Amino acid sequence: MKKILIVDDEPEIREVISFFLESECQAEIIEASSGLHAIECLKQNPDIFCIICDYRMSPGTGGDVFKYLLEIKSKALFVLASSERPEMHEEFTGHTLAGCIEKPYLAEGLKKVLPFLKSGTESATGMLDEYSRIKTTLLYRANVMPCDIYLRLSKAKFIKIIFAQDVFGEDELKRFDLKDLQYLHIKIADYSIFFGKLEKDFISRVATKNLTETESLNLSLEMQETVHSLSVAMGFSEKIETISKTNVSLALKMIEAKPGLADLLKKISITSENYISSHSLMLPYVACGLADLMKWNSDQTFYKLTLASFLHDISLDDDALAAYSSVEELKTDMLHVKTWTEAQLQEYLNHPQKAAQIVTSFHEIPPDVDSIVAQHHELPDGSGFPMHLNYARISPLACLFIIAHDIVTYCYKKGNCIDMQAFVLDREQSYVSGKFKTIFVALKKSIALKNS
Ligand SMILES: [Fe+2]
Ligand SMILES: [Fe+2]
Repeated sequence: MKKILIVDDEPEIREVISFFLESECQAEIIEASSGLHAIECLKQNPDIFCIICDYRMSPGTGGDVFKYLLEIKSKALFVLASSERPEMHEEFTGHTLAGCIEKPYLAEGLKKVLPFLKSGTESATGMLDEYSRIKTTLLYRANVMPCDIYLRLSKAKFIKIIFAQDVFGEDELKRFDLKDLQYLHIKIADYSIFFGKLEKDFISRVATKNLTETESLNLSLEMQETVHSLSVAMGFSEKIETISKTNVSLALKMIEAKPGLADLLKKISITSENYISSHSLMLPYVACGLADLMKWNSDQTFYKLTLASFLHDISLDDDALAAYSSVEELKTDMLHVKTWTEAQLQEYLNHPQKAAQIVTSFHEIPPDVDSIVAQHHELPDGSGFPMHLNYARISPLACLFIIAHDIVTYCYKKGNCIDMQAFVLDREQSYVSGKFKTIFVALKKSIALKNS
């Protein structure tokens, strides 16, 4: 049987990855808790076929493991499972890794590396038929069971011993431990539900860890109320507010870890009078809600929209300048109310591209965020800026972001008065083509349903 080595200093991550692999491939899983431990395992098991490895561990990093593999000219495949991209570490420079799993989104990364893991091992399906084994420690981590749990009596006989929605707590863990039972079973058909729950719990734990600094950027009470009323007025599901909150925490945590980005983010302080900050903090909730309505509800999509919300106006300093929705609006103001200098006009015209360049320079920011940011002032009829793209050339996520931004700006300009029916009436002729139309129709339906 082929061997796969999982290296991570967090037992929870090793268990979750191991559960995924055991359900998908027939392989012997070996676990190591540090770089040095991994090197020991590699010495004892020179036939290891693939290594799924974290970077930051002690003693010995993922980079040390990779250097060891190069040194012994090993043919083993190396997959980096980290929140940091390989480009950030010189050990990987000039080498192509077999794959990257971007934490905390384990499922997405694991699915990508699965084809070559499967080609090197045998499919698990034939072996386990209907059931897949699962560690009791994972059941304990999941706490409330998302599906039924079975005990294996013989090769082909299983009995249900825990029901879906039952709690698997400390007592249960001890009880099975005393019987020396480290594994129970779930139906293969339930495996993705279980894995989804483990991953979601893991993502929210990451989001709530070390949040002392980011907590200061949470929504003010007044804004929380506005966000909630907006969510209700648009007919968003209840859970979407929590999902958005998790994504806001995750995005802020990533931004704060990067010195260059963290400085830029300081602009987003929590005052509702300040346009750049208040609309950037409210946007993720509206954008994620719209994405949920469209069923574009993957974790990655929510995360991308949240990052785009925080970063789209990051290159602008002037709140009044940022509050303009179009060049026409700004030019009309120049004629009647306020005179902007040529430099300020240029700053406004270039801000989407400039912000997109900042986004591109940070490798940790997932793809698509830069294009959403670059396109956030484009309009379906091509009258937007800076590229004058029409609906057919604006990316679907950017279309959604543009509508979300429009909703937030609309509410802000009306003094946070939320009248979604008025918005829909006002914009009836604006969003009539392509993805804009689909999103607008979904929003209209949701509002109508809410009011029926
Ligand atoms: Fe904006
Ligand atoms: Fe903008």
